[in-house]
Amino acid sequence: MQAVTKNVLSSQDYDAFRHFLEEASGIVLGDNKHYLVTSRLNRLTEEFRFESLGALLEALRQGRDRKLQERVVDAMTTNETSWFRDTYPYEMLKNSILPELARRKVNPLRIWSAASSTGQEAYSISMVIHEFQQANPGALPGRVEIVGTDISASVVAQARQGRYDDLSMARGLTPERKSRFFTDNGDGSWSVKPEIKARTRFTELNLLKSYALLGRFDIIFCRNVLIYFSSELKTDILDRMAQVLNPGGYLFLGGSETPSGYSRAYEMVRFPEGVVYRKKDNGR
Ligand SMILES: C[S@@+](CC[C@H](N)C(=O)[O-])C[C@H]1O[C@@H](n2cnc3c(N)ncnc32)[C@H](O)[C@@H]1O
Repeated sequence: MQAVTKNVLSSQDYDAFRHFLEEASGIVLGDNKHYLVTSRLNRLTEEFRFESLGALLEALRQGRDRKLQERVVDAMTTNETSWFRDTYPYEMLKNSILPELARRKVNPLRIWSAASSTGQEAYSISMVIHEFQQANPGALPGRVEIVGTDISASVVAQARQGRYDDLSMARGLTPERKSRFFTDNGDGSWSVKPEIKARTRFTELNLLKSYALLGRFDIIFCRNVLIYFSSELKTDILDRMAQVLNPGGYLFLGGSETPSGYSRAYEMVRFPEGVVYRKKDNGR
């Protein structure tokens, strides 16, 4: 990467930066993100007190500053999320999948929110578990654990805190769930109640790296993140997720995502609420 003038990325620098980002996070930037990248990197140039955008790119190229690399990846991720996003996965979980896992007496029941962003996905799952347990006392007697992971340290920290402003609270929560599962802090923020938080934990994890330390799961939510990756990476991630799914385990993907054409480890299952993917018997 060469020094740039006037804090604008040359095409050559843009290509080099795209390469860095894909290596570090799997995220493939399109040709049309030039402006977005320039403005986000200019902000980091100031934050890290580099003399110019070129100096920041040079430091990235040398690869010695882990903190800088992390912040750059952090700045380039899209953390868009909401409570009970798309509704149907959570209805399917409550009405179709949890009853089946309860009949199979799965214990412990482990669920992975694999790109958990600021935590809404993992906490929505925990609220569904709570509602299912209230409606079916004793049906899930064992331990339930929800593990949220994300590459971005800042969103993982927010998820762990479990504290949300009015704007985030307005996205996807019914008034009943809001009053039942949150405490009003009286300062325009709301905290997830301890009984919902208790079965969750959050940790940083890059999906390009090993999943071995996470253990095995009965359900994986990997929603709205595969869209950013190349075909090769989609295959790699889907195959490695199958390896940590228990037999008969379920994979939830985003509305525009599918394993079809990338991995043979899953079969599509249709429930009344919509489509989900199940690990095949021979899916390793
Ligand atoms: C659009 S959000 C989706 C959040 C949530 N799953 C949902 O559907 O609402 C995508 C998340 O993927 C994370 N992400 C991007 N690349 C990643 C990687 N290589 N490993 C882990 N997480 C990644 C981002 O930091 C971001 O929080």
